[in-house]
Amino acid sequence: MCGIVGYVGSQDSLPILLEGLRRLEYRGYDSAGVAILNGGGLSVQKAAGKIAVLEALLDGSRPRGSLGIAHTRWATHGEPTTVNAHPHVDCKGNIAVVHNGIIENYVTVKKKLEQEGHRFTTDTDTEVIAHLIEKYFEGNLERAVALALQHLTGTYGIAVIARDDPSKIVGARHGSPLVVGICDSEYVLASDVSAIIRHTNQVVYLDDGEMVTLTPSGIHTTTIREETVSKRVETVDWELDMIEKAGFPHFMLKEIFEQPQSLRNTLRGRLIVEEGTARLGGLNMSPAELRAITRVVITACGTSWHAGMIGEYMIEELARIPVEVEYASEFRYRNPILEPGTLVLVISQSGETADTLAAMREAKRRGARVLGFCNVVGSTIARESDGGVYIHAGPEIGVASTKAFTSQVAALALLTLYLGRLGELSSELGAELARELELLPEKLERILAGAERVKAIARAYAHHNNFLYLGRGYNFPVALEGALKLKEISYIHAEGYPAAEMKHGPIALIDQNMPVVFICTQDSAYEKVLSNMEEVRARRGKIIAIASEGDDHVATKADHVIYIPKTLGPLTPLLAVLPLQLLAYHIAVERGCDVDQPRNLAKSVTVE
Ligand code: G6P
Repeated sequence: MCGIVGYVGSQDSLPILLEGLRRLEYRGYDSAGVAILNGGGLSVQKAAGKIAVLEALLDGSRPRGSLGIAHTRWATHGEPTTVNAHPHVDCKGNIAVVHNGIIENYVTVKKKLEQEGHRFTTDTDTEVIAHLIEKYFEGNLERAVALALQHLTGTYGIAVIARDDPSKIVGARHGSPLVVGICDSEYVLASDVSAIIRHTNQVVYLDDGEMVTLTPSGIHTTTIREETVSKRVETVDWELDMIEKAGFPHFMLKEIFEQPQSLRNTLRGRLIVEEGTARLGGLNMSPAELRAITRVVITACGTSWHAGMIGEYMIEELARIPVEVEYASEFRYRNPILEPGTLVLVISQSGETADTLAAMREAKRRGARVLGFCNVVGSTIARESDGGVYIHAGPEIGVASTKAFTSQVAALALLTLYLGRLGELSSELGAELARELELLPEKLERILAGAERVKAIARAYAHHNNFLYLGRGYNFPVALEGALKLKEISYIHAEGYPAAEMKHGPIALIDQNMPVVFICTQDSAYEKVLSNMEEVRARRGKIIAIASEGDDHVATKADHVIYIPKTLGPLTPLLAVLPLQLLAYHIAVERGCDVDQPRNLAKSVTVE
């Protein structure tokens, strides 16, 4: 979603701001803008569309100055036009604001400000922030920001600069992340560390209710009530090359191919094969506390929710604890029952998804113990949960989640092993699972070696407008994930279904124009899925099957077969999802879609 970058230091700020915006492009946006203080004036330039449009505009007159803020906007209030792009300014054009989040009471505040004589020029909620700061400004920007924020409800991460207090950027956070990068006499403020790590790996994360003032001589952090707070400087362990394409045409393809390595990173040091269990350092729960769990609730959104479903199947089968999986957006408003003994697992790649964060806070409010499964270190969910597991997939830039999914499933497998071994899971079965987990990265490499075959199938089917994905058991969530990948990046309508459930509706759609992707590995439901395949064949549907290596029989029923190495049932999703990611990717490329920044989607959905 929206992205913020701010720079103060001795260098010309514009190239730094634009480079920062490019690093945030992956989050999804529809317009961009910059505001720079130069020679006593405030220069604001913005444009609808991609950053390249803004750059073209700036080529005409490049504002120079060593302090500025910039923004990529993902429209919520008001169309994605140039006028509605950030930064927004006050009546006199002296104060500029960029904002992530939503100001919920902006209508009331706007009305009041209009009565007081302020003139508004945009349809955005953000503009009220600029006018409120103008109202309270008496020469000290952080003072005016603090006073203005007292009147706002909703969520925000903001960065503000003012012509009449020209040596500072003021940032504030309530519900939308902000982080400050610390270099020598230079400071970068951003909504995401990706925009910072080119400059430094030393960062300070703001917490909700905090403000920061950046000047060339240092940063000062306070609460929005203006009480000083001292913050810890943390080290980010990402390298710049981790957020670059490394010769791949798209981040998504790079991340698909990174999965053998990201999986190794998730598992590293965590398997105790001979004991058939796992070692998870960050749970912050004793074995006795974990044994006392009577129920697990998993909550998440999107791809992370699909990983959660696989977690449900694994934990119930192997650790024998009842599990429910719920969309975070439903959970948070549903008055859920969380009796003592319920453990809540919150899964989020970004650790910032608004609904997931709200669900986590709701669970905590009700007294439940919450474990976060996050990728982004230092993210809000990671920091606010009682404990958890970092999945260590490395930065994921492609909007459609790929390597985070496999790492989430692997992390859930580790938790399953640990919980299982505290209970009834035998050391033999535990050890078998642990050994097999260790073998998976190499099996993923084998699948990737056959990626060209998936590309050829993708070419043949790219012109279709509907797809069905079917699987049973552990492969049902894989079917959901395969369908989600396709619709996210190729804009093809795709549905995932439990294979047998097809007869209760989707079968009506099947004719010679309907490609059906079956995940049909040799597990307990194999024969049943073959029967479902026959039902599709009988209606002349086109079948693409994901099958276990060595299964020649399936080839007699399917139009195309993509083979994956054999593994244990609960671990099948970790392999089966790969060809589906590749299929979606190649179909999207074939259709000329913007794979890494699909329309309307955002990498991290920070509004509900
Ligand atoms: C967005 C992304 C999805 C992601 C979902 C949940 O919709 O486009 O790829 O699965 O958010 O994100 P999270 O960061 O919480 O896993």
